Amino acid sequence: CFVGGALGPVHIAVIGGTGLYKIDGYTPIAQVNPDTPWGKPSAPILILEHNGVPVAFLARHGAHHQFAPHEVPARANIAALRHIGVRCVIAFSAVGSLQEEIKPMDFVVPDQIIDRTKGIRPFTFFEGGLVGHVPFGDPFDSKIVDIVKGCAASMKGDGVKLHEKGTIICMEGPQFSTRAESNMYRSWGGSVINMSALPEAKLAREAEMAYQMICMATDYDCWHSTEDVDVSMVMHYMSTNGQNARHLVGAVLDQLCKQDNSDLVQAKHWEGQSKGAVSFM
Ligand code: ADE
Repeated sequence: CFVGGALGPVHIAVIGGTGLYKIDGYTPIAQVNPDTPWGKPSAPILILEHNGVPVAFLARHGAHHQFAPHEVPARANIAALRHIGVRCVIAFSAVGSLQEEIKPMDFVVPDQIIDRTKGIRPFTFFEGGLVGHVPFGDPFDSKIVDIVKGCAASMKGDGVKLHEKGTIICMEGPQFSTRAESNMYRSWGGSVINMSALPEAKLAREAEMAYQMICMATDYDCWHSTEDVDVSMVMHYMSTNGQNARHLVGAVLDQLCKQDNSDLVQAKHWEGQSKGAVSFM
């Protein structure tokens, strides 16, 4: 496993989605671009440092946003992060809101996922003779959620509103949903919708990583009015609220970097989930 010079192994990573390309308070100190059996990650991985703690940053859609959600090399991304020592992932994503009370610019830490991808994205490390079945009843990491809640509470004065749970619908895309689909997802209890939670969260679990997505609502999808969602709407809210997003992620990292959280960032509670199959990474 990679040792980040005098800084030691890189246990924590941020996967940045649309609009989150840097993190406040962290200085770039290195860049790595490992080859994995599943190819190169979406972009070279930046190693950032703050108070002596290294953090990896990976742009999910590539350095030039060249990968559509269904093209993201998710297996290479997770394998590359794991290869440099990462065990704890904060994954950021822009999402559409499926509920009136989740307003554009609100943050959500989902606790559940409904898979509406079409099974065409490579979604497992376990194939070709390597058999493994990991539990996925609770797809995210409630210990990271507790930290995010505390950080968001201290940012209320800046207008940060966090929804402490929710079900994310992960759809295939790249087209947005029809109104009938959007209403069906609402009837299923969906809170928010994106195209990026899967297979990333499943692969992170197979790789025995602690993984939590932090979502920022950028639109009301198409159920809310006769207006259609479009990319300019998503980008508008992302850039308007980008500073809050960067502050929130920075605050979460500051907490994770504290000694008290070392068991969490080394994902001790996920060890053994893949019954040893993960050792090939
Ligand atoms: N990402 C941001 N907004 C979205 C929406 N409405 N549907 C799917 N993915 C999204």
